[in-house]
Amino acid sequence: MPPTEINIGLLGAGVVGSGTLDVLWRRRERIAAAVGCPLEVRRVLVRDPGRPRPVAIPAGLLTTDPSAILEDPAIPIVVELMGGIEPAHGYIAAALRAGKHVVTANKDVIATYGYELFRLANDRGVNLFFEGSVGGGIPVVTTLRHGLVANQVGAIQAIINGTTNYILTAMEQDRDYADALREAQQLGYAEANPRNDVEGIDAAYKLAILSTLAFRSEVRPIDVRHFGITRLQAKDFRYAAEMGYVIKLIAASRLLDGQIEAGVYPALLPRTHHLASVKGVFNAILIDGDQIDTLMLYGRGAGAQPTASAVVADICTVARDLIRGVVDRIDLSGQPRPVVDFDDTESRYYIRMQVADQPGVLAQIARVLGDGRISIASVIQKETDETARSAELVIMTHAAQHRGVVAALEAIGHLAVVRDISNVLRVLR
Ligand code: NDP
Ligand code: HSE
Repeated sequence: MPPTEINIGLLGAGVVGSGTLDVLWRRRERIAAAVGCPLEVRRVLVRDPGRPRPVAIPAGLLTTDPSAILEDPAIPIVVELMGGIEPAHGYIAAALRAGKHVVTANKDVIATYGYELFRLANDRGVNLFFEGSVGGGIPVVTTLRHGLVANQVGAIQAIINGTTNYILTAMEQDRDYADALREAQQLGYAEANPRNDVEGIDAAYKLAILSTLAFRSEVRPIDVRHFGITRLQAKDFRYAAEMGYVIKLIAASRLLDGQIEAGVYPALLPRTHHLASVKGVFNAILIDGDQIDTLMLYGRGAGAQPTASAVVADICTVARDLIRGVVDRIDLSGQPRPVVDFDDTESRYYIRMQVADQPGVLAQIARVLGDGRISIASVIQKETDETARSAELVIMTHAAQHRGVVAALEAIGHLAVVRDISNVLRVLR
């Protein structure tokens, strides 16, 4: 006999938590029919019960005491939507230890403590679901865990931060960085600390999660070198457009000779690239698998409703598993694979610098690049200030090792004729 109802304890009722409550209550009958019994939200943990919220939460449900959820034996499913690492990590671990199933959208925790929590969930025989942690409403975690189980995934290339894609799309249209960031915050896309978004940290967490699932080997956030979007200027977008490219914050990982390469960086993409037309808050993930060739997932990557859609789908799956008495164990049987030092990876590069407008400048720069075995693919030079006799130089290189490019730019920065190295970006094919 199915239970008459299943109780849920919610940790956090901010952007995503409120969205989740809204769907659970508005779609109550549909969800009950899909699961086999109604889902009841029994308690909601917040910091400030007096704070106005987008959904009206009965005062009797609100609590500031985590033990009211974590120690209530009548609550079998805990949904963590607080964000940050602690105390969220401690609460998730406590819930799993208490034999409760957990659903979370917390990429910081899953990326940092994933393996530890996956083992704990498997040992306790409970579910740990985290679809909302990557790609908002896009079912990419489920796709990697289940849909692509027959594949060896070889590579992932993705736009997985809605806030930065929203900002870059605005900048491409000559809009101001700070205004676009403010809008993304007002729309509920940004992390509590938006530095996580604009410095590429959030995307690095998400890439660590996707790569761990894809390559069946633990990839930690520390393994994913990340670069942010804060140095980009309107002129980078103009040069990119002139050469047939767009600029996106890319999260990419791949398996090469049994090792994993992973990084997050702003990059020039040819206008014809599948990810080039992904605009605003939308995310997209390209996955190469040996059975499917290439798969692309596309959808809203942040915001209350898309993320609530992913969270509620996880809650329903966990509730159905609970009724059937089964657990969806996380596969930890893969062979550990080393993660390559990012400095050893290769790419083409775009380099923009301010130089003195005088004879021999290009030759000096070309010599340093040549000494570092970095081959120049093209050069654009624009006169920027006639009185100061300075020029702006944009150099595109052929594929070169990151370490070599950093060393060459260090040497170029010391040339008397070079006034500033303004930006360095990877260039994808
Ligand atoms: P918010 O900051 O909007 O909400 C956080 C909620 O958690 C608030 O209700 C807050 O209480 C509560 N909370 C935080 N810390 C504590 C604490 N120590 N004790 C009790 N309650 C606490 O965050 P979001 O909803 O935007 O994000 C939640 C999670 O979802 C994060 O992990 C985020 O990375 C992830 N996520 C967010 C997306 C988005 O688009 N926003 C998309 C995908 C994932 P109070 O309201 O009283 O302050
Ligand atoms: N801050 C995140 C983003 C939320 O902008 O993508 C979704 O994970």
